[in-house]
Amino acid sequence: MLQAFRYSAAPPLGHEVDFLQHATRDEIIALQRERLAWSLSYAYQNVAHYRAAFDALGVHPSDFHDLPDLAKFPFTTKQDLRDNYPFGFFAVPQDQIARIHASSGTTGKPTVVGYTRSDLDIWADVMARSIHAAGGRPGMRVHVAYGYGLFTGGLGAHYGAERLGCSVIPVSGGMTERQVQLITDFRPEIIMVTPSYMLAILDEFVRQGLDPRGASLQIGIFGAEPWTEAMRAEIEQAFNIQALDVYGLSEVIGPGVAQECIETKDGLHIWEDHFFPEVIDPITGATLPDGSKGELVFTSLTKRGMPVIRYRTRDLTRLLPGTARPGFRRMGRITGRTDDMIILRGINIFPTQIEELLLASGWSAGHFQIELTREGRMDQMTIHAEARPGAWDGAGLIQPAQVLTERIKNTMGISARVIAEPPNTLARSTGKAQRVIDRRQQS
Ligand code: DLL
Repeated sequence: MLQAFRYSAAPPLGHEVDFLQHATRDEIIALQRERLAWSLSYAYQNVAHYRAAFDALGVHPSDFHDLPDLAKFPFTTKQDLRDNYPFGFFAVPQDQIARIHASSGTTGKPTVVGYTRSDLDIWADVMARSIHAAGGRPGMRVHVAYGYGLFTGGLGAHYGAERLGCSVIPVSGGMTERQVQLITDFRPEIIMVTPSYMLAILDEFVRQGLDPRGASLQIGIFGAEPWTEAMRAEIEQAFNIQALDVYGLSEVIGPGVAQECIETKDGLHIWEDHFFPEVIDPITGATLPDGSKGELVFTSLTKRGMPVIRYRTRDLTRLLPGTARPGFRRMGRITGRTDDMIILRGINIFPTQIEELLLASGWSAGHFQIELTREGRMDQMTIHAEARPGAWDGAGLIQPAQVLTERIKNTMGISARVIAEPPNTLARSTGKAQRVIDRRQQS
């Protein structure tokens, strides 16, 4: 049955990149049913943790008959992965693991993930499909400025772009001057990088007196960190490009789990033939209906090296019906992570909300950091936001930052201090931006 699917979906690109991209919803659901049954039983048979966790809940892979039955199975958390550090979740003998990646996280040990050769193949397929959905085509040049190494961004983008038939320029992150030189000289059509580092590349264009709108770039594929519609507008306008969102996480495979399509730019289509999504209430764990906002959970459908069953991503979003690819559901832009949420005097705040208000102010170009301190018994939030060069007259901001303090108070109900910093003074990240510095324990 799977074989029939694989070869009946005539791939217009001459290889398997487009495999199932245009499948109907019914075809995808039938495939998911079959693949979920396989993945649950594969995990149970090959990973001690899953066997123990299923047994403890009194469920067996044979209890799965249809998609709603997945809710009977236990969640997997980052803590479970840490408890089995480094290789306890691998489902195959070491000699079948073709690659290892790891994500560092903010505290403690990294989360380690392993791929078989067939997993790497699937990853390249879904990433190629993603670049294609973003408007990439064989023959285009792709500048990859995601970091190469244990982080999945660089190599994930790299092999996907190669699989699609692009020419890859594997620059990795950092050395911003050289990024600009290579973009200018090699004339790539596509750039793949974190949105925050794209802003740093923008500054470098300006510093060198080059016009970013005159560069060769047509498409940017941005992800690995939360970003907003306001940031999309900022980047599209500055470079005269189409900016698309790509999502993924190491535990599930890396970048290429979901991708926004250039035709609609309305959220990210999840490649549901390989990754089964659910949205749950992060407190109760109850599965929520499509359209409700909650924590995103993934079950891998085809992975062999390290299958994941109901992995809790901590990312907050909602599931929506497919549009440009009707067979696949979309997820909304990630608004934040449960562990990025700032609770300030009882009010929940995500850095993306601050980003939107900052960019709407006109004087900020989107470089910012949120500092949390404790003064007496009160938590304080200070937003350090860098001014655009044109909004800074040497002594300070032309428009007072107080206006923004008021807007934050009116829209979010919190009192925050806003400090406008001079242009080019905040540290730039070359990968994921660190938006929140929590000094509440120290102060
Ligand atoms: O960040 C994989 C990736 C690389 C995705 C390049 C896209 C582009 P991790 O380092 O394991 O993997 O971090 C995964 O990053 O759970 C989200 O919190 C966040 N994230 C990834 N993509 C997006 C996005 C890679 N488009 C974690 N929007 C995830 C918001 C994102 N957050």
